[in-house]
Amino acid sequence: MKQITAVLIGAGLRGGWVYAAYAEAHPEDMKIVAVAEPDEERRNAIAKLHDIPAERCYRDYAELLSEEKMADCALVCTQDTMHFEPVTKALEKGYHVLCEKPMSPDASEIVTMGKMAEKYNRILMICHVLRYSSFFSRIKELLSEGKIGKMISIQHIEEVGYWHHAHSFVRGNWRRADETSPMILQKCCHDMDILLWLVGSPCQKVSSFGNLTYFKEENAPEGAPERCLDGCPYRDECAFYAPGFYFEHPKAEADGLIYAVSTETDRESVIQALKTGPYGRCVFHCDNDVVDHQVVNLEFENQVTVNMTMCAFTENCARRIHIMGTDGELSGDMEKGIIELRNFSTGEKETIQLHTPSTGHSGSDTNMMKDFVKYVREDSEEVRSGASVSVESHLIALAAEQSRVTGRTVDLEQFRQDIEEK
Ligand SMILES: NC(=O)c1ccc[n+]([C@@H]2O[C@H](COP(=O)([O-])OP(=O)(O)OC[C@H]3O[C@@H](n4cnc5c(N)ncnc54)[C@H](O)[C@@H]3O)[C@@H](O)[C@H]2O)c1
Repeated sequence: MKQITAVLIGAGLRGGWVYAAYAEAHPEDMKIVAVAEPDEERRNAIAKLHDIPAERCYRDYAELLSEEKMADCALVCTQDTMHFEPVTKALEKGYHVLCEKPMSPDASEIVTMGKMAEKYNRILMICHVLRYSSFFSRIKELLSEGKIGKMISIQHIEEVGYWHHAHSFVRGNWRRADETSPMILQKCCHDMDILLWLVGSPCQKVSSFGNLTYFKEENAPEGAPERCLDGCPYRDECAFYAPGFYFEHPKAEADGLIYAVSTETDRESVIQALKTGPYGRCVFHCDNDVVDHQVVNLEFENQVTVNMTMCAFTENCARRIHIMGTDGELSGDMEKGIIELRNFSTGEKETIQLHTPSTGHSGSDTNMMKDFVKYVREDSEEVRSGASVSVESHLIALAAEQSRVTGRTVDLEQFRQDIEEK
């Protein structure tokens, strides 16, 4: 089968750690032939690993995309506010595109991107990885088989994990909504997407509540310095003590979080980065403003109601779901790979144990890349997480944020109309 070629736009944690790593592990599927990345260390590391000649290494996506098309597809892995422009330029040049989520924090850009695949007759796939997970794929199958009868209601929880929240949403890249996107879009557009997919009906109404309650100045213990390494007296008792997390927590390396702190991951380089960089700041002395807990209520056209909770204060980074139907109920724990079914009339219980890896969104990252390669090889028109279907979940997340801020229920039809009229 044909090896597809790709240009990598943004060689950060997702671009370098997940997608380029996929190409490295699966050379029969994909080869990275060019990279655009302003960070010299990251750019050089990718160039070396993938044998990319110097003339195919760029500091900026605009330089790369001003050249003649040089590959089958473009992997757009820049930050949230920097997807729209490279995606548009890449499609204009004739690349198929894989774009990180969220598509954009801007509603009009999201709607425009939803129409782009058709306009340019190219694949524009959004990295809604959960659609490729064995966990949610199996749940979708069970629902389609009618295992719980007619769906009535869903309770869904996204447990962010106290350590993940501190890393990404207090100290890290997504701590400020004005610089990237609101938490409910950034973290939960995946959940909105999967809920929409499972319910299989348009969403009509959205209401939401949430706050940043804990990670702020007023909760700093007395005498806690600005940085953990400035002699913090709480170092032995604080769950957020940065060196404790980056050197000891199993997820710090397994999920590649340590590479956000420093490209070089020897102890000395990491300590240096914690002394001066954002990841060494006390969690109570950062400039974060995104919420640390939020609930969302949704009502769909087919009368299914959904309640979703996102919360930072959990041990694990995990998702759990409970789906209630007329003939039975289904509950599932994605991290554990367990789905339980109960039937009301027979009283039967069934437990399904899936074998899922503990990293890469329980194996979904790899599954998604396999499908993307297949779609590009086949010039496919059917894409499981195409931009046109991803628009809706993004708009639900933005509507939830509007509801949280205004304290009002949002009518989605009206919300969509307002965007179109802008
Ligand atoms: N699909 C998922 O489950 C998932 C998970 C985490 C993050 N994300 C999303 O992936 C995206 C990237 O996240 P990340 O953690 O890799 O961030 P990152 O900051 O590590 O990577 C972004 C990279 O883009 C580079 N960049 C900046 N300007 C550029 C330019 N002009 N041209 C080319 N490159 C440029 C940066 O230097 C950086 O290396 C974000 O939108 C994020 O929300 C998705």
